[in-house]
Amino acid sequence: MSATAPASFRLAKRLDDVGFSDIVQIRNRVMELRARGAAVYQFEGGEPYRPTPDYIKQAVTAALQENKTRYAPSSGIPELRRAIVDKLRTRNHIDAKEENVIVVNGGMQGLFGAFQSTIDPGDDVLIFSPYWTPIKDLVAHCGGRLVPVPTDEARAEGFRPTLARYATAKTRAIYFNTPTNPSGVVFTRAEAEEVAGLAIDRDLVVVADEAYEDIVYEGEQVSIASLPGMSERTITTFTLSKSYAMTGWRIGYAVATQPWMAGLAKSTLYSSNGVSTPTQWAALAALTTESDFLETSRAAYRERRDLLVSGLNELGFTCAPPAGAFYAFPDVTSINSDSRKAAEILLDKAQVATVPGVVFGPHGEGHVRFSFSTSIETIQGGLESMRRNL
Ligand SMILES: Cc1ncc(COP(=O)(O)O)c(C=O)c1O
Repeated sequence: MSATAPASFRLAKRLDDVGFSDIVQIRNRVMELRARGAAVYQFEGGEPYRPTPDYIKQAVTAALQENKTRYAPSSGIPELRRAIVDKLRTRNHIDAKEENVIVVNGGMQGLFGAFQSTIDPGDDVLIFSPYWTPIKDLVAHCGGRLVPVPTDEARAEGFRPTLARYATAKTRAIYFNTPTNPSGVVFTRAEAEEVAGLAIDRDLVVVADEAYEDIVYEGEQVSIASLPGMSERTITTFTLSKSYAMTGWRIGYAVATQPWMAGLAKSTLYSSNGVSTPTQWAALAALTTESDFLETSRAAYRERRDLLVSGLNELGFTCAPPAGAFYAFPDVTSINSDSRKAAEILLDKAQVATVPGVVFGPHGEGHVRFSFSTSIETIQGGLESMRRNL
């Protein structure tokens, strides 16, 4: 390859403000340490520690053997879309029809389609902060701007007045993620109602992200699309990644009315043309097979949460128990007020890998994110190492 690229070898401008995940850089550093033979207590990840249940794996094997390997409708096989409609009605109280549901390659593709369908260059998106970082890049890809709204401020001063303070004439949408990554906040019904009230008042779209809907320890999971007047202005994205330990399978779904569904359908059609057909049959098994997988996972996460959170508090890292998801987000200013430095110290001195809170926006500064989706031994070992080495 020639050393000097012609000036025309320039990435399209729309990707200029789209970043790569910091988390990948942390993972690389962990792999480097492990390659040198260091034992690293890994808390930086973001996926279930359990394997995918056997009944789901058996369903994909059966689909392959039955030659269910051809193109499927781009929006998903009818059997799966029908099962999703049932699940949305019974579990989320969202009264959707088959035409309101699209099967996508994980929450990420649903979110990509949601923002592509709603955000024009120059539009603002309100987001409770700290927030899951890729949203910034998904919005940047549309030429939009993220406007962080501190969750603590909303909780202290009321959701509606707080959102109203941050809204501008350019505000087009609110991203509403509950349970929240990284803080583990589960928004209450009253809070969701306030967000909905403001969205209706200001004629905003809500992009709801329920990736962790099945991992709730305290409180209830309220789907904002189920509130009065909200189904037509909400695009909700779901994924099987976290609930069924299927991160690598890449399957989820989105629910929306028109015109948003046309946007989701176009963005899916012209990117992946749908989800792999055998994977969709596996997802059908996940949603329709009687199993205690969701309950046993929740109980296992709760045990890990309690162990990690009490250990962190004993170490002086103030940490409220998260009400949902599988992350603890303690204050680590006693190590260093710069969360990147604090994470570096945790890794270098205690071999404990975490994600600096500032990665999740300015309101995450002073914190680091620990995932407790790992073995009890890792949690005990990591706590012990911090006790001895910090
Ligand atoms: C808040 C949130 N939303 C969506 C996703 C997307 O998950 P996936 O694309 O694996 O379905 C994640 C994954 O980490 C997440 O944390």
